[in-house]
Amino acid sequence: MASKEPIIITEKDEMRKWTRTMRAQGHTIGFVPTMGYLHEGHLSLIQEAYKHADIIVVSIYVNPGQFSPNEDLSTYPSDFEGDFQKLKSVGNGVDVVFCPNNLYDYGNSQTGNGSERNQEKVVSCVEDKRMGHETWVRVENLEKGLCGKSRPVFFRGVATVVTKLFNIVEPDVAVFGKKDYQQWKIIQRMVRDLDFGITVIGSEIVREVDGLAMSSRNVKLSPENRQRALSISRALSISKFQAEKGQVNCRELINPAIQLISEAGGTVDYAEIVEQESLEPVETIERPVVFCVAAWFGEVRLVDNMEIRIN
Ligand code: PAF
Repeated sequence: MASKEPIIITEKDEMRKWTRTMRAQGHTIGFVPTMGYLHEGHLSLIQEAYKHADIIVVSIYVNPGQFSPNEDLSTYPSDFEGDFQKLKSVGNGVDVVFCPNNLYDYGNSQTGNGSERNQEKVVSCVEDKRMGHETWVRVENLEKGLCGKSRPVFFRGVATVVTKLFNIVEPDVAVFGKKDYQQWKIIQRMVRDLDFGITVIGSEIVREVDGLAMSSRNVKLSPENRQRALSISRALSISKFQAEKGQVNCRELINPAIQLISEAGGTVDYAEIVEQESLEPVETIERPVVFCVAAWFGEVRLVDNMEIRIN
């Protein structure tokens, strides 16, 4: 397979300048934001981006703004060398890897120049008033349910950093994974509501052969919990099958799913069947819905979902 050495850009101004030059030459820019530790799921987002654009930018940035103080940002897995090799050989190779140092440091911090990849400093940069960051983007209703209940600052952080990245990269098209269904819907709504000139594409979930949805968090699962975690995709598949066979009562689908995951050793954070656009829970399936689940296996919180359409 052909491979191309991607350009690494770390500075915002350089990134913006590069995109503008490419656009002036008639190219369309596809963008895939990531937090690194790339797996097949990310690579499928890049493949999707190639269908809509001829130049691809991938960002790698672990965004401190979407972690709350009790979530340990410093243990988020990272492997820049491995990521870079993958980005070189996916499709024709991506064009740019944008890896900024600290997107919340505007040069007025007394705590350092922000160039260190010191996670402790990065955590504090969002909360530390000296960094001067005080503007947040909120998608007020869509951010409330599902993951928003247990991760109250998460979507505010995602919407804000994606806004920053969109303003820096200025892409034509951006691709998000449907595994993080709520995140995808929030970005779509934000782009519509704030009139970004960007098309947001949702890309299908990529699963391991045994059904586990791919996630950077999967490496943190012990072998036993990795096995137990298969209960999530099993429960979702069974529910989808039952719904498509005619079971439209959501309680009758949700309760057995919770039971299956709990009996496998998982702690269910939520299991909800929601309408695909509003993400509002429904009692009876009358239009396209999505069954979303978040569950803990040991210290690892996994999310997964399946869209359900009935005729
Ligand atoms: O899905 C992710 O990896 C992150 O939430 C994103 C979209 C890159 C923003 O930090």
